[in-house]
Amino acid sequence: MRGALAGLAGAVKDMPRSPAGSGYNDEPAANSKLQPQQLPTLLHSPRKASPSKPKKQPAFQGVAEVSWERFLPDYNSKLGTGAYGGVYSVQGNPDQVVKLFDRGDWNDVMKESVFAQDMKARDPSHYVDCLGVGNSPDDDGNKLFAVFERAAGITLHSAAHRFHSGDGVSHVRQALDILEQLTSIMISMTKPDREGQLHFHLDLKPENIMIAKASAKEQAEEFQVTLIDYGVVRTSKVGDADVHDSALQVFRWLGWIFLWMLASETFTVDESPDKNPWEQLPEGFKPFFKRSDFRPPAYRSEKLSPQILQDALEEGFYTQVMSAAFRKQWKSPDKAKKKIGLILGDLFHGVALASDCSADFMPDFQKFRDDFVELRQLAKND
Ligand SMILES: Nc1ncnc2c1ncn2[C@@H]1O[C@H](COP(=O)(O)OP(=O)(O)OP(=O)(O)O)[C@@H](O)[C@H]1O
Ligand SMILES: [Mg+2]
Repeated sequence: MRGALAGLAGAVKDMPRSPAGSGYNDEPAANSKLQPQQLPTLLHSPRKASPSKPKKQPAFQGVAEVSWERFLPDYNSKLGTGAYGGVYSVQGNPDQVVKLFDRGDWNDVMKESVFAQDMKARDPSHYVDCLGVGNSPDDDGNKLFAVFERAAGITLHSAAHRFHSGDGVSHVRQALDILEQLTSIMISMTKPDREGQLHFHLDLKPENIMIAKASAKEQAEEFQVTLIDYGVVRTSKVGDADVHDSALQVFRWLGWIFLWMLASETFTVDESPDKNPWEQLPEGFKPFFKRSDFRPPAYRSEKLSPQILQDALEEGFYTQVMSAAFRKQWKSPDKAKKKIGLILGDLFHGVALASDCSADFMPDFQKFRDDFVELRQLAKND
C-alpha cells in the first residue's frame, strides 16, 4: 500500500513547490487576525475558553427532569464510551439510551438536551430527541445523565467499507447516498428556523453519525442517517458573526467525510490534540495541505486552485486511494473518475479556504449535493 501511495505522491511532484525561505511559506494567513495557536485544524476551529460554569443550575430550560429509577442503564449493553462517560441502553427499553456524564457540568448537559429537542422538532428523521435529564445517585447526586432516543443502526465509523460490516457500506452507490443525505442535513443547518436561529452540529465525526439500512422497500434512500452526540453544537441568530465560522467548520467535515466514505482504507484521523489532521490525509494530498512552520503559520490556499488539485489527484485517487471494491462498481469508470477528480478539486480547494478562514469564502453545499447525485447516477445499480 505504501508503494501505491507513494505513486500518488509522485503524481504531484511536478506541482509548483517553492523551496523553504522563498517567501512561499511565510505569507501571512488569509485571516491575519488569527494568532498561530488559534488557527483551525482540518476539523476544528479554535475554541473559546469556556468560563467556569456552575455545577448545578436550578432551571431546567424546558427539558424535563426525570428520575434515575425510570431510566436505569443496562450495564450489560454499553453502546459507547465518550469523552464524558458511558452510553448505555435503558433497562427494559432498548429504544432509549442513557448517557452518563462524568463531569458535573450542567450547562453542557442542557445544551446537548435543548439542541436535541429543537432539532428533533425541526427535522425528526435526522436527530434523536432528549426525553429528559437528571442526577444520578453517584457522587452524592452530582453526576448527571440524559436520556435520548436510540438512533437505529451502527456508527458511520464502523459502517465504513474497510470494516466489511454486513450492516455497513458495501457499494459505492450506498456511500454516495449517505454523502448526499449528509450534505442535505448540512444545507438545513445553514437555514434559519422560524425563530431566525441557525443550529450547527460542529462535531460531525463518523462516530457521531448513525446509519441504518432502511427497512421499508419503498423508501427513496437506502440508509437512514441520524446525527447523535450534541456535545459540540452552536446556535446563532441570522447575521451573527459566528455563523460563517460554523458553516466553514461543517464544510471541512464534508471534505473529511467524503474521503471516509470513498476511501476509508487509506487513512484515518487520530483526533488526539498532538496529532495534526492535515498529516493524516492520503499521501497525495499532503503537498497541498501542509501547515507551514513559519510564523505566522499559513495554509497554502493562496497557491491552490480547484484545477491544480484535480489534475494532481484525479488519477491517483481513483486507482490507489479509493476503496478497491468501488472501482468495479461504476457503469462508466472513465466518467466516474473524471467526476471524482472535479469534486476533489472543488471540495478540497474549499476545505483549504475554509481552513484559512477565508472571509469571502462561503461554501456552496447545494453544489456538492448536486455533484454527489450526479456521481451516484454513474454507479451500477446492482
Ligand atoms: N442516541 C444514541 N443512539 C445510539 N447510539 C448512541 C446514541 N448516543 C450515543 N450512542 C453511542 O455511544 C457513542 C458515544 O456517545 P456520544 O458520542 O454521545 O458520547 P460523547 O461522550 O459525547 O463522545 P465523544 O465526546 O467521544 O464524541 C456513540 O459513538 C454511539 O456509538
Ligand atoms: Mg461522540
